[in-house]
Amino acid sequence: AAPTAPDVSQCGPSILDNGKTLYCCPPKPSSQAMDFKLPKISPYDLRIRPAAHLVDDKYLEKYSKALALMKALPNSDPRSFKQQANVHCAYCNGGYHQVGLPDLDFQVHGSWLFFPFHRAYLYFYEKILGKLIDDPNFGIPYWNWDHPDGMVMPSMFNDPKSPFFDPIRDQTHLPPKVMDLTYDGPLVQPYNNNNMSNNDQIALNLTIMYRQMVSNAKKPTMFLGEPYRAGDQPNPGSGSMETQPHGTVHTWTGNPPPNTPSWEDMGVFYSAGRDPIFYAHHAQVDRTWSIWKSLSPKNKDFKDKDFLNTYFYFYDENAKLVKIYVRDCLDTKKMGYIYQPMDLPWLKSRP
Ligand code: C2O
Repeated sequence: AAPTAPDVSQCGPSILDNGKTLYCCPPKPSSQAMDFKLPKISPYDLRIRPAAHLVDDKYLEKYSKALALMKALPNSDPRSFKQQANVHCAYCNGGYHQVGLPDLDFQVHGSWLFFPFHRAYLYFYEKILGKLIDDPNFGIPYWNWDHPDGMVMPSMFNDPKSPFFDPIRDQTHLPPKVMDLTYDGPLVQPYNNNNMSNNDQIALNLTIMYRQMVSNAKKPTMFLGEPYRAGDQPNPGSGSMETQPHGTVHTWTGNPPPNTPSWEDMGVFYSAGRDPIFYAHHAQVDRTWSIWKSLSPKNKDFKDKDFLNTYFYFYDENAKLVKIYVRDCLDTKKMGYIYQPMDLPWLKSRP
C-alpha cells in the first residue's frame, strides 16, 4: 500500500449535496510547493489558544481586526476569508482526486486523515491572521463545548457588528440555549423537545464526552478513524469524535431545511468554513486529539507510514503554496501552539 494524497494540479469543481457543482479551488500556484518545515520555537513562545467564552476585550479587538483584514483581502488572494472557507469545500466535496487516480476523490473526512487535515488547515488560518496584525503569537480561540461553561454558542460569535457573526445559523440555538452534543436534527432527535432541563442536558453532554473520549476510543482506529490509503474509496470509517460531537455540533449550529437548502452554513461541508465559528469548533476538536493522547499510554498515533506520509497543500501566511505531511501534524507544541488548560469534568461522568 501507499499513502494517498491530493493531486493539486487538477483541482476541479466540487459536487454539492443537491447535485449542483461549485468551483472552490484556490488560485493556481505561481510556483512549486515548498515542503513545510516545523518552526523553531522556544517553549516560552508557544501560541496559546484561549477558550472562546473566556476571552477579554483586548483579545477580541485583536481577533476582530485580524479577521476583518482577512475578509478585506481580494478573493484572488489565497489568504482571503473567502478562499479559506473554500479550502473546506475543495477538500471535502470532491474538488481533488488522488494523485494518479483521477477516478477517486480525495476526501479528508471519514478516516484517519480527519484530525491531521483539520489541524494543518487551522494552523495556516491562524498564521495568516497573525501575519495580518503583525502578531506571530496570535492564537485562535476554541469552543470549549466539553465543559459546562462552554456549552452555548460563545457570545463573541453572536454580535452582528463583529466579523465573527454569521446570520445563517439555527436561530433557536443562539445563546443562552444549551447545546445538545447528541443533536441529529430538529425532528429525528429524541432529546430535543426543549423539555430537557439545562442541568439534565449538561449531564447528558458530559456522559457523551466520556463515551466518545474513553469508552468508544480504546484503540487508535476507534478514536482517530480507519486507515485510508492510495486507491481506497473515500470514507473507510470515522473515529468516535468525528461523528459525535464533531458532526452533531456542526448540525446543531447550522440552520436546518426548510430554512436553508442544505443546512448552511455549518451543517454541510461546502459552506461550513464560511462561518467563523467553524474555526473555534475545530480548534476544540483539535484539542480533544491532544487530550485523548494524554489519557492513556495506549492512546497513540499510528506509526503506519501511509498515515505519516500522507500530505496536503495549503497556502501559508506569505501566500506561498506549502506541502505539509501528516507526520508534521502530530504534536501541537512542535507546531508552536498549546491550548489554554481547562478542567475536564466529563472524566467523572462515566455513563
Ligand atoms: Cu471538515 Cu468539521 O469538518
